[in-house]
Amino acid sequence: MGAIVTGATRGIGLAIAQSFVSERASVVLAGRSIEEGRKCADALGPNAHFISCDLTRKKEIEALTAEADRLFGRIDMLVNNAGDLHRASVLDLPVEEYERIHKLNLTAPFLLTQLVGRIMVRERRGGSIINITSTGAAVCRPGGTTYHVTKAGLAMLTRSSALDLGQYGIRVNAIAPGAFETGLMLSSTSTTPGLRDQLVSTTPLGRNGQVEELADVATFLASRDSSYVTGQQLFVDGGRMMLNPGLKVPEVADWVDFRR
Ligand SMILES: NC(=O)c1ccc[n+]([C@@H]2O[C@H](COP(=O)([O-])OP(=O)(O)OC[C@H]3O[C@@H](n4cnc5c(N)ncnc54)[C@H](OP(=O)(O)O)[C@@H]3O)[C@@H](O)[C@H]2O)c1
Repeated sequence: MGAIVTGATRGIGLAIAQSFVSERASVVLAGRSIEEGRKCADALGPNAHFISCDLTRKKEIEALTAEADRLFGRIDMLVNNAGDLHRASVLDLPVEEYERIHKLNLTAPFLLTQLVGRIMVRERRGGSIINITSTGAAVCRPGGTTYHVTKAGLAMLTRSSALDLGQYGIRVNAIAPGAFETGLMLSSTSTTPGLRDQLVSTTPLGRNGQVEELADVATFLASRDSSYVTGQQLFVDGGRMMLNPGLKVPEVADWVDFRR
């Protein structure tokens, strides 16, 4: 079995790649950090390969897919995990940042779904595509336009591509993480004093998640254990989405920095 996991040089993507390798899959780890990516692949052993790719560039996405196809002769699993955000009030958000985040969070998963989907159709073995969305696909915090719009779009890409690809035995599902203490989450919470504690205190399980807990769910969605599951978005958030309201609206002083 061959897999591509994007954004696998650290954080959630690396944990998913680790979990797939431990289930004896061959995995391409994709990301921009060449040294880090090679180190990660070496640590995972001979079934892991790093391919450098800037997912905001169509040509690099095409090269990534072609190289994974050449390596494995098939691709059975795709995890669209790489993601980023630009925090700014909608009044100040530069269109260049809006477009950059769209390219990474939404256009790249679309292109990969198309390119990898064609390989899966060619091979006639079905497949599993997993999109990493966010609780931010459904609820918002101030200054989060780029993130919320793209993650909500990715949730809908999940459903619409599940509809198109079901006839080929290709399942498409999304995982919406709550708070996992990766670099992305820490850079996001560090600009808002008290946000980390607020997140924990509004999570019914009373803690943030461990990346391995997210990887276990991805492994389930990639495996035959979920063979009748498609078009779903599974919230892995310690129960936080049950709360209404989830977060207090921050005081202006908490997010004024995002305008820089
Ligand atoms: N952590 C959380 O609490 C949380 C919550 C909800 C949703 N999520 C989602 O989970 C996913 C992973 O998040 P994370 O917390 O693990 O983030 P992270 O630790 O910041 O890792 C992000 C990964 O994406 C890659 N990446 C970023 N820009 C890229 C680009 N232009 N081209 C290729 N790769 C790129 C990075 O690799 P390079 O820098 O090497 O390119 C890195 O491997 C994201 O989609 C995020 O929105 C996370």
